[in-house]
Amino acid sequence: MDHKRNTTLLFSFLFFITYLITIASSKDLCPGTPNTTAAPGSTLSARGDATVNHRVISLSIYTVQISSQIPPEVGDLPYLEKLMLHKITNITGQIPSTITKLKYLRFIRLSWLNLTGPVPDFLSQLMNLEYLNLSFNQLSGSIPSSLALLPKLLYVELSRNKLTGTIPESFGSLQTELTYLILSHNQLSGSIPKSLGNIDFQSFNVSYNRLCGLIPSLQGFDYYTYFHNKCLCGAPLDSCK
Ligand SMILES: *[C@@H]1O[C@H](CO)[C@@H](O)[C@H](O)[C@H]1NC(C)=O
Ligand SMILES: *[C@@H]1O[C@H](CO)[C@@H](O)[C@H](O)[C@H]1NC(C)=O
Ligand SMILES: *[C@@H]1O[C@H](CO)[C@@H](O)[C@H](O)[C@H]1NC(C)=O
Ligand SMILES: *[C@@H]1O[C@H](CO)[C@@H](O)[C@H](O)[C@H]1NC(C)=O
Ligand SMILES: *[C@@H]1O[C@H](CO)[C@@H](O)[C@H](O)[C@H]1NC(C)=O
Repeated sequence: MDHKRNTTLLFSFLFFITYLITIASSKDLCPGTPNTTAAPGSTLSARGDATVNHRVISLSIYTVQISSQIPPEVGDLPYLEKLMLHKITNITGQIPSTITKLKYLRFIRLSWLNLTGPVPDFLSQLMNLEYLNLSFNQLSGSIPSSLALLPKLLYVELSRNKLTGTIPESFGSLQTELTYLILSHNQLSGSIPKSLGNIDFQSFNVSYNRLCGLIPSLQGFDYYTYFHNKCLCGAPLDSCK
């Protein structure tokens, strides 16, 4: 492991966040598209809104090699609408609760990191959230049923984690209709809530879990949506005994 390089990149990451906070609060800088590249093949980018001055509304960092945690200062970008950290080797630790300060957040993708801890209950305070993707991490604990309180939520992907417990019944009664629900490759147990049978999902996947019982009549999903579970039964799997 090239420790020195890692440290340098970690500092540029933290520096970058500080830089964003500076632009976010500056009165003198022009709005624009700062775009800093950290290393070949790596990208740090941020975007301001051309109509609303001095506000960082999007932060994307992907394919960099740093060992760090998500800095709590991310909560100091109050106008952030999109947060994407993807494929950063060894971002460990939990999702910081300061994220709840980001009232405009619509899009969260924290994928291919090494995040631990729960899918936080406090995400249900982000009332503008439409897209939540926490796939390919080490998240554990159960899926908070309070996510169903989010009035605009359309996409939920929590695949490839270590989640346990049941699929919340409340997901069948969101104010919006969930379009995507991908929960494959976890350790979820119990049955698939009947309430989900009423939803017209574009994409749905609960394969590779420990689910059991009768599959509710979801439309148009095949064997591969449900395979590798403990004892799910009914079409498109074998009928229940
Ligand atoms: C930032 O730079 C990368 C690499 O040069 C480019 O692919 C990406 O589109 C840029 N992003 C923005 C928002 O300009
Ligand atoms: C996560 O941590 C494990 C164990 O330290 C490591 O093997 C793996 O490469 C890490 N994955 C990422 C995406 O950082
Ligand atoms: C990930 O972080 C852990 C703990 O800080 C460290 O032991 C490990 O070497 C790191 N792995 C990589 C791939 O950076
Ligand atoms: C969530 O992130 C994963 C991993 O990067 C990606 O493969 C998947 O398409 C994303 N899901 C959605 C619904 O965008
Ligand atoms: C569901 O996820 C599994 C595991 O990732 C995958 O093999 C399967 O093709 C997916 N099913 C559908 C219908 O996309």
